[in-house]
Amino acid sequence: MKTINWGVVGLGGIAHKFVADLQTLAGCKLIAVCSSSATRAEAFANQYGASFFTDSLAEMLVISDLDAVYVAAEHVRHHEIVLQCLATGIAVLGEKPFAMNAAQVAEMVEMARSKKVFLMEALWTRFMPTLLQTKEWIAANKIGAIKAIHADFGFKADFLPEKRLYNKTLGGGALLDIGIYPIFLSYVLLGMPQQIEAVASFTETGVDGATTMSFLYENATAALTCTILANTRCEGLIYGEIGSIELHSRWHESTEVSLFENDKPVETMRFPREETRGYEYEIAHVNDCLRKNLTESPIWTLADSENLIALLDGVRTKIGLTY
Ligand SMILES: NC(=O)c1ccc[n+]([C@@H]2O[C@H](COP(=O)([O-])OP(=O)(O)OC[C@H]3O[C@@H](n4cnc5c(N)ncnc54)[C@H](OP(=O)(O)O)[C@@H]3O)[C@@H](O)[C@H]2O)c1
Repeated sequence: MKTINWGVVGLGGIAHKFVADLQTLAGCKLIAVCSSSATRAEAFANQYGASFFTDSLAEMLVISDLDAVYVAAEHVRHHEIVLQCLATGIAVLGEKPFAMNAAQVAEMVEMARSKKVFLMEALWTRFMPTLLQTKEWIAANKIGAIKAIHADFGFKADFLPEKRLYNKTLGGGALLDIGIYPIFLSYVLLGMPQQIEAVASFTETGVDGATTMSFLYENATAALTCTILANTRCEGLIYGEIGSIELHSRWHESTEVSLFENDKPVETMRFPREETRGYEYEIAHVNDCLRKNLTESPIWTLADSENLIALLDGVRTKIGLTY
């Protein structure tokens, strides 16, 4: 099995979690890290045993045995970093939201296709066993046709105006950070809606503190919410004609999913994790794609990412959130 050598750009909170999970997998290795701060890069490299650290992405991208880069910087830096990696022929797993808007994502997709280089959005929930189980039950007609989806994602984030979540110049707000997950659930199960409605409350820094969305489909509706102002239940509920599915809290990273026949619980599937946080599934998938010389994931495709960012853009238009 070919070892896939990874580099990471942007060494904040998620980079630590991702690398910790990566290191539990066989057949891949962290070899290089890049940060805007050389000191942070050195400390991170020492902590995880990466042999190379730098504050220059160009320097990292010419390492001869580098196979893939995980882009974990703030949203506003995704587009530029991804393009730079792809231009030098390095495969990319890029954090969500893939970029700030559909035009940026289109450019990234075009670059990946023209260079024939692998590119995937790090939509880790798509690879969770609980989401796969949900899709399996739906495909097996266990709940009948889906009639409604209710999904929320909310946590109370301290009001720190300079930090990423509240900072407009860093692409802050609930929608792009966590609203993307309820939208993803609705998209992955029902596809593109016919109509989108949304309202939001704004923080004094000009980003959405909370956004509530309604998606209309031909035969179903979705009620989707996100907030950085309060802790919410974070449940994913899918209601069909003859049953329902509950992705337990927090549903986007859930290890437990239940099936109901009408109101009667019939089965709960558990996929416990001991050492990891759930990033290992997407990482294993990318490793696998790269070993097969694929330029795109067959499971979370570039068209999926283009649709998801189009939905985010659509909601932003409704609530009047511009960056
Ligand atoms: N998939 C998921 O579950 C998940 C979870 C959380 C976040 N994300 C995504 O990942 C991206 C980064 O989020 P995050 O939560 O990691 O943000 P964060 O902790 O605020 O870090 C963001 C960036 O800030 C820079 N930074 C500047 N000063 C720093 C300091 N003192 N300590 C640490 N980093 C510092 C780092 O880049 P440099 O090292 O280059 O300066 C880092 O990449 C976002 O796009 C977000 O949507 C995904």
